[in-house]
Amino acid sequence: MKVIIAETAEEMSRKAAEFFADRIRSKPDITLGLATGGTPENMYALLAEKCENEGLDFSHVKTYNLDEYAGLAPDHDQSYRYFMNVKLFNNLNIDKANTHVLSGQAEDLEKECAEFEQKIKEAGGVDLQLLGIGNNGHIAFNEPGSSSDSRTRVVDLTESTIKANSRFFENENDVPKQALSMGIGTIREANEILLIASGSGKADTVQQTLEGPVTEDVPASLVRDHDNITFIIDKEAASKLEGEY
Ligand code: F6R
Repeated sequence: MKVIIAETAEEMSRKAAEFFADRIRSKPDITLGLATGGTPENMYALLAEKCENEGLDFSHVKTYNLDEYAGLAPDHDQSYRYFMNVKLFNNLNIDKANTHVLSGQAEDLEKECAEFEQKIKEAGGVDLQLLGIGNNGHIAFNEPGSSSDSRTRVVDLTESTIKANSRFFENENDVPKQALSMGIGTIREANEILLIASGSGKADTVQQTLEGPVTEDVPASLVRDHDNITFIIDKEAASKLEGEY
């Protein structure tokens, strides 16, 4: 486990974008696992800039996203497919056919999850998985109580996640109560993981993830022993860490 502490959220984004760019340069047909949310937004903007100004080539890159809300259409402005298109894919020279986001509108959601797992397998697995972390320690939508061998499935969102994500919706009742999410077992199979976090609101959960017990109560702690995992966190998110990094 490698921990990099950045001075600011801006620096976290720059370091994370450089981390991704480095892996894409080394393996142009890399398979990326991607996350949504506020944390990676700036990093995605920086990757788009690198594509435009530095010739970082996404034409052979494949992507698989961690999760999607159940029930939302791909063009709903709060769906994760929409987020990815607007924040990243539309701004890259990527072939959209190579970008995979679970469908929240599939007729049979469990079947959609099983097929997604199969597609990842057929692609040869994820080379580099990006993770954010929820205030309650969730990764993707693996809420507390998720097991370390969980697979892609339909999950119920906790009240705390619904509340946290209501900032993006007009009102809290509009936040879907269920989502489709890669499992922790699925995430752990990636060759490499990069977890990013910023802001003092994440300080407790970052401390528990890195220094607390490995427990289903803090799902992110279940990936800490991955043999190729890097954390890039800003100073505020690192403010409650007790160890030296
Ligand atoms: C979203 C995802 C979530 C977020 C987490 C943090 O695809 O995987 O686990 O990473 O909810 O969200 P932000 O970055 O908005 O604080």
